Amino acid sequence: MADSEHAPVDLIELASDAPIRFFDLKAQQASIRPALETRWTDILDHGRYIGGPEVSELEQKLCAFTGAADAVAVGSGTQALVMPMIGLGYGYGDAVFVPGFTYNASVNAVLLAGATPVFVDINPKTFNMCPEDLERRVKQVARQRNLRAKAVMPVDLYGLPADYEGIGTVADQYGLEIISDAAQSFGGQSGNKWVGALASITATSFYPTKTLGGYGDGGAILTTDKGIGDMLRSIRWHGTGEDRKNSIRVGLNGRCDSIQCAVVSEKLSIFEAERGRRLAIDALYRKHLSGVVEIQSRFSDSAMNSTSACGLFTIRVSDRDRVRAELSEQGIPTSIYYDTPLHRMPAFEHFNPAGGLPECERASEEVLSLPMHPYLSEGQVGRICEGVLGAVRG
Ligand SMILES: Cc1ncc(COP(=O)(O)O)c(C=O)c1O
Repeated sequence: MADSEHAPVDLIELASDAPIRFFDLKAQQASIRPALETRWTDILDHGRYIGGPEVSELEQKLCAFTGAADAVAVGSGTQALVMPMIGLGYGYGDAVFVPGFTYNASVNAVLLAGATPVFVDINPKTFNMCPEDLERRVKQVARQRNLRAKAVMPVDLYGLPADYEGIGTVADQYGLEIISDAAQSFGGQSGNKWVGALASITATSFYPTKTLGGYGDGGAILTTDKGIGDMLRSIRWHGTGEDRKNSIRVGLNGRCDSIQCAVVSEKLSIFEAERGRRLAIDALYRKHLSGVVEIQSRFSDSAMNSTSACGLFTIRVSDRDRVRAELSEQGIPTSIYYDTPLHRMPAFEHFNPAGGLPECERASEEVLSLPMHPYLSEGQVGRICEGVLGAVRG
């Protein structure tokens, strides 16, 4: 969807010299606080802190928003990734393809499920998994006796949906399940589908600073298959059947409590407005910075009409430390996601493929994320851009 297709959105009014925060959960809280206080009272009154009505309320709202057939609220984004792999019975020797440039939770989830991660390089423009490199690695695995290619885990980095078209083609050809890591991309779209309906299994996180965050840990699995939803509801309660006593499969405590579900439900009620402002801020950044700095592409490779959830706004800069220091002196906070690719981390370096992952390595040296949240004003974005342009021009 091009920017011009979005209705104009009013950003909040704040002077350009007002303090700039990288995220701003306080400003957001002010708009939902009265509703949350009513929610606390309801929960204290009914007393069902686990499995209260807020859980199914949130699950229904998530389905209504995304178009997923089912949603299962769980304890974190990491659990949302691990649980489907437990349910699908992955284990020793089952290969799951993951990008080498993502948060460590993606690969931890594969290992916690007992499967083997196979790292894939990224597309330098989108920072997301490269479908061509995926195919190359799938073919390599097919030549190895000790590994069976089972699944691919695309990650929607910074909010931009991965190339589900390109990855889907490879997955269909080699019989791979797609488990989407959408921890950073709730609210993103590709084609005419929302994140949550782009893969048969999608994991998202409600970590407080995510596009849809709670006030603690939480997450959800969205699925296009009702049967998977039923299985995951059993897994989140120690693999029990309807009686919640006898385990009929292996499971864990993967529940999201009533309070977190209530918070996320309330945040969903302001989500569309916040999403519109994120998109408007993204467009402003692009207007000021395009042509001078390299910005994460708005499009995945083949699904040309994808729309980022705008969880983070990320540029590439050489001489990153100097640029960061100059911005910091001007009161402009920045952050780096991520300065070490996964195959270079001590816990995962034995999965480092021969020849490394050149694009993951280059990205980790150059990426810089600028403030991105719905409570930035046009003046503040202008000030950030002036700072960036001044710093990169030297
Ligand atoms: C890409 C990615 N995957 C998974 C996770 C894990 O989510 P959680 O922290 O809710 O377990 C995160 C959280 O930061 C993430 O960014």
